[in-house]
Amino acid sequence: MTPEFPSTTGMHDPFLTPPPGCPAHGLGPGGLHRLDEAEDLSELYEQLREQHGPVAPVLLHDDVPMWVVLGHTENLHMVRTPSQFCRDSRIWTPLLEGMVKPDHPLMPHIAWQPICSHAEGDEHLRLRGAVTGAMSTIDHRGMRRHINRSTQRLVNRFCEEGSADLVGQFAEHLPMAVMCEILGMPDEYNDRLVESARDALKGTETAIASHAYVMDALSRLTSRRRAQPEEDFTSHLIMHPARLTDDEVREHLRVVLFAAYEATANLLANVIRVVLTDPRFRAQLSGGQMTVPQAVEQSLWDEPPFSTVFAYFAKQDTELGGQRIRKGDGLLFAPAPGNVDPRVRPDLSANMMGNRSHLAFGGGPHECPGADIGRAIAEVGVDALLMRLPDVELDCDEDELEWRASIASRHLVELPVRFAPKPPQDVMQKPGLAPVPPQRATWQVGTPQPTPAPAPQPTAPQQPEPTPEPVRPKGAWRRLLRWWRGY
Ligand code: HEM
Repeated sequence: MTPEFPSTTGMHDPFLTPPPGCPAHGLGPGGLHRLDEAEDLSELYEQLREQHGPVAPVLLHDDVPMWVVLGHTENLHMVRTPSQFCRDSRIWTPLLEGMVKPDHPLMPHIAWQPICSHAEGDEHLRLRGAVTGAMSTIDHRGMRRHINRSTQRLVNRFCEEGSADLVGQFAEHLPMAVMCEILGMPDEYNDRLVESARDALKGTETAIASHAYVMDALSRLTSRRRAQPEEDFTSHLIMHPARLTDDEVREHLRVVLFAAYEATANLLANVIRVVLTDPRFRAQLSGGQMTVPQAVEQSLWDEPPFSTVFAYFAKQDTELGGQRIRKGDGLLFAPAPGNVDPRVRPDLSANMMGNRSHLAFGGGPHECPGADIGRAIAEVGVDALLMRLPDVELDCDEDELEWRASIASRHLVELPVRFAPKPPQDVMQKPGLAPVPPQRATWQVGTPQPTPAPAPQPTAPQQPEPTPEPVRPKGAWRRLLRWWRGY
């Protein structure tokens, strides 16, 4: 590592650790900040930006040294320059020098695996080519229909209650339901699979058993489709000319399922929070407008589902953001601080609508290949949720919402909401044939209209015909028609 990083071997004396609240708390050898001890990571990133500029030296668990890339430009430069930075942890100096113990909490991310996320060059092209090739066969219209129906099914489970936790009962379920369908194992989707994936990602004592449960389902799927291919992602992955082995197929199904599940569940919860709390979504209150796709993009800027990605490694001595980076140094790709870099966002409250240059999906050769799927689940899912629960409201103050943060992600623990109880709806039935309660008067949920938003309407009974409609705004009708026509 660079000379700026002190040697950490055997230097840490627990008796010298300052108590919580002391200004020196969270500092390790050499006065470097320990990311894992930070009480507020976004505050720490701003402090580091001020102190070191766009690339800062920090410590991970066990005082393992790392750079965190805070600048928007520097993050993009790193991910887009494979000649200088790669994702192959086998060249990471602290690992080669034995500083990273086998029980290091980040080991699941650190340990090199034969998957596209860690591969480089021709091998990356081969593995990623198989993944993107299989993705290109996904029928997007069918997927949107499935997102709609899965949303209906999930809403049916709590719509009569008048209240729900939209993290535990919706956001954590919808991506799994959709991914099981895409991969070709709709019958495996159930509460146990969702709980196992959630548990495996949390790293609790039962994480290994939970992970095994998910892997078991993926192994069965691989064997079934190897024996008899069908028209789904897994069959296309197996049949791709890259000729993946069964192990490679299973590992890539795992990467896709977990990446899609975790990131999209975080995104969904964040988008619903924006929709419920951002005054720009409540056209009536502010005179402004925000559609669901715009709420998705706003969340991707403000709360990227992965705050940081572990990690990139320097292939040679180089310079980044004014820092001297040595061959073998590790760098955290960091969408969360990169997205709020004051050089690209001097005013954080400024409107980012229409601007997709955030870092949420990464960039360069490893850029997320599932961005369209993640966006579709969030957009169609939230739209369909609002169609079913037009009067849904947050059931607590926004500042009472609890967040859980780690270096890798920050997500809502719960999202309690209330609404008038409603009967379940036939998921195969087109929306509108069942009685739909009145739209909450203050919302704009459709495509932006050049004209002012409709004024609040009395809660008159709904008319089934698509003639002048006293309650729903035009955007909702447009979506309804889109749904009918299947696009
Ligand atoms: C909102 C949802 C999502 C977000 C924010 C997200 C974000 C990311 C990020 C930041 C990376 C790493 C990029 C890098 O290393 O530079 C990544 C990689 C990846 N994502 Fe996503 N992702 C999402 C959804 C999905 C979905 C739905 C799928 C699959 C259907 C998927 C599959 C993958 C795969 C296979 C990789 C590894 C690509 C490679 O290394 O070549 N992701 N994603």
